Amino acid sequence: MNATPIQVPLLIPAVPDRSALWPYLERIDEARHYTNFGPLVKELEARLQQRFESHAGMQLHVTTVSNATLGIELTLKALNLPAGSLVLVPALTFVATITAIISAGHIPVVADIDPDNWLLTPEIAAAAVKASGARAAVVVATFGHPQNTRDWSEFQRQSGVRIVIDAAAAFGSQWLDAGDIPVVFSMHATKSLPAGEGGFIVSGDASINALVCQMSNFGINLDPHSGVPVGYLSSSGTNAKLSEFHAAVGLASLDNWDQQALLRQRLYQRYRSNLEQSCGEELSWQTGPAPSAPTTFCVRLGSEARRTHFEILCREQGIATRRWYQPLLHRHAPEIGKIVVLPTPHAEAVAADLIGLPFFIDISDAQIASVAAAVRRSVSLNPLLQHVT
Ligand SMILES: Cc1ncc(COP(=O)(O)O)c(C=O)c1O
Repeated sequence: MNATPIQVPLLIPAVPDRSALWPYLERIDEARHYTNFGPLVKELEARLQQRFESHAGMQLHVTTVSNATLGIELTLKALNLPAGSLVLVPALTFVATITAIISAGHIPVVADIDPDNWLLTPEIAAAAVKASGARAAVVVATFGHPQNTRDWSEFQRQSGVRIVIDAAAAFGSQWLDAGDIPVVFSMHATKSLPAGEGGFIVSGDASINALVCQMSNFGINLDPHSGVPVGYLSSSGTNAKLSEFHAAVGLASLDNWDQQALLRQRLYQRYRSNLEQSCGEELSWQTGPAPSAPTTFCVRLGSEARRTHFEILCREQGIATRRWYQPLLHRHAPEIGKIVVLPTPHAEAVAADLIGLPFFIDISDAQIASVAAAVRRSVSLNPLLQHVT
């Protein structure tokens, strides 16, 4: 049987078009500087730094990288933990969070999430550290919902456990109110500040940013005052530099970010109130402040059977959906490496009925209505029903 053609795509990236890129591409042509910390990369870092500093009211540092996955890996390496340290990670996140921990030479400890806000919280981390002896945690601003950096700073100070926040999808929502917690953002094409590929690290600790920057350039020392000759390898890094072309896209995205964020917020509210009006209490949502520039739209349908029913309906009608962040991290192939798994009952429950609905800036009211109609039909099923025929 032929599959129904897609009528409602899952996600359409909102990347600046060629007219928005043109002024930046002209500057690249003139400067003939294409990578290796060029002027556009520096300008992007300076503009981001200003944005984060004006929110935080303190000095912060921004270092661009070629993607957030390498950003998380290099930030972990910059913490200088002993090789093979145990590092907490929430069970519900994109696979990049765990691959970055493994690539940094550490052992992931998969921990549970809060049943309401779907985040790894300091309370859950405290119990997980006690159970596992973890020395660090990569906590995630899941689906763009921000983590509280002050709470994590307090946790880090009291426990000695080092914290890195993976805020890949949380630009505009995740801020730094504590300079001792490094935060990593993604500029992947699907994010709200797209560069095609790209990422950056924000922290109040200049030495972390300097080390990430050095390791993004193989580990070559470029600091005449460091005690190691300039041009010598002084740490073991990789090539994770952001090119001038990606910086051009990032800068053009930043020029238009506030307008785009507003469109995303309005869409989120319109879509959500449509579903709340038609399906009311049957749906549950991630609690906490709505993201400033949402790029995904997830909801829990109340049971696994309802989700299966909804997926079948959507396939029949050409509506694309995604079980975001599934399978849970510890349910992938054992070959990914050594992993410690703590009990994750809340993550299992969320994963059982979570579904990502189509979400993109120019989704039409008719498309939203067709998604809402399918949701309505599925949640009219008895949630205790175990199987869908
Ligand atoms: C939670 C999370 N972490 C990390 C990443 C990886 O980001 P990048 O594609 O920039 O490497 C993503 C990308 O979607 C993500 O959602």
